[in-house]
Amino acid sequence: MSNTAAFDWAGVVNYAKRRVGEVPKTQYELPGVNVENHCDVPVACVPLWHSVVTARLSIQKGDKAALKQAKERLDKALAAIEAIYPLYPDGILIQVAYGLPYFREFVPKVVADKFMPRSLENGRPGDWAITDAIKYPKDPAHLVLEQNDISFHFKSDYADHISKVMRALFQPGPQMLNGIPTEDVYVGDLFTITSIRRGFAGHGMPRVMAQRLGIPGADKIPPGAMLFMGFTSSHVHGLAQGTLPSFETIPGYTDQTPDSYFANGTMMHLSHIAIDLEGWYKIDHPGRLQRMFHARRTEGEDILSPSQAPDTTTFKDELEDDAKNRKLLGHNAQMQFLSRVDKDTTTVYGDVIPKGTVIFLRQDFDTVENPFEFNAEGPVSPTPKPGVHFIGFAPSAQLFDKIRKEMDGVDLQKKYNLPDENTGFTKFLVTTHRQHYLEPSRAHRSFPLAEMI
Ligand code: HEM
Repeated sequence: MSNTAAFDWAGVVNYAKRRVGEVPKTQYELPGVNVENHCDVPVACVPLWHSVVTARLSIQKGDKAALKQAKERLDKALAAIEAIYPLYPDGILIQVAYGLPYFREFVPKVVADKFMPRSLENGRPGDWAITDAIKYPKDPAHLVLEQNDISFHFKSDYADHISKVMRALFQPGPQMLNGIPTEDVYVGDLFTITSIRRGFAGHGMPRVMAQRLGIPGADKIPPGAMLFMGFTSSHVHGLAQGTLPSFETIPGYTDQTPDSYFANGTMMHLSHIAIDLEGWYKIDHPGRLQRMFHARRTEGEDILSPSQAPDTTTFKDELEDDAKNRKLLGHNAQMQFLSRVDKDTTTVYGDVIPKGTVIFLRQDFDTVENPFEFNAEGPVSPTPKPGVHFIGFAPSAQLFDKIRKEMDGVDLQKKYNLPDENTGFTKFLVTTHRQHYLEPSRAHRSFPLAEMI
């Protein structure tokens, strides 16, 4: 552990004061993400570079003093990083989430049972709102259901910021952050890293990366596309705004209230999905458009961001109609009856959100890893493979599981005898790893509940 005193960045340049605006209570809201206008459709310009680090804890189970000390150290380390890099895409945005093994194995049962959010079933608290991830109908046999204790997600417009912060946090020995030697950020002895996953999300990046790495199908990716499959996935109207994905915000999903310990927290899902790019781009533009969105879409090839406004939402009847009469289901239409509110809804904070407002948040990014940069629990292939590190936030794992099963779409597929390639786009995806996590509020981002034991 370090003896070096924290460097007083605020006394040199107070980076926090260079920015106006409040620090969000949640970890998943991203200050400084600007909105672009794509032919009158608002699109969030998300940070360019992303990294995820997953780990098991190295501290002894049942060692309460060690856990409390770990909490203090991680808290200080994250605060030190945020004193150096602004909480903006041009600085660094960090999210910390915890897997079920952490709550089951490190937090005493009596404490976890008292504070963990519970999913509401028929209006009554049932199981914890974070569950073990499960297999969905179209998963391959080799899918890994992971059991990590913790996940860190780093985002920045500058890859170098992420690499430096990761080194300072996890690698022993002398490290520099913004030119100043630092040791007080190192917390690597607390963890055994299980994976490092990196990727990107930015205009033109998928095509450039795929072309430079000689990935088959690269030339078919539209030049301005932000993701491999060609269409924008960060529509403002397709991403839950404010605190909508939090456990407590929309009544009816969990037993959490604004006063609960896990208020401003959420369920985070992390998975890795490989994409069959060549197969996908064998389909023509109208076919891809309709499989991505819905079977009634007619936008031309120049439109990568078709409107996702509330009034474009596909609810259950229309989805059934698409299956029955058009014999084709679009990816986002398959799930919108669950990912969006089906009536005008008042949140627990008093905001009224109109019918068709999305409450599910996605922060996924593209990757060329096969499957990860580093994988302690399985092989890594040097052959680049297009894919997505999928990150999604919902008020409960139970809701996520329902949404994700709809993405496979087997019920409608069977009922209307749809071919695989007409049931969304799962025919072109292979999920290799997945896990559900609890992402606490910023206030509890360091080892939640450890202070209660
Ligand atoms: C290769 C993987 C994936 C790609 C390329 C992808 C792409 C997209 C795109 C382009 C949209 C519509 C654009 C937008 O709303 O911004 C969308 C919507 C959506 N995606 Fe995915 N997606 C992928 C995987 C997943 C997974 C694993 C889930 C998990 C359940 C998921 C859930 C959703 C939901 C719920 C919506 C609709 C949000 C709404 O409009 O209410 N997606 N996706």
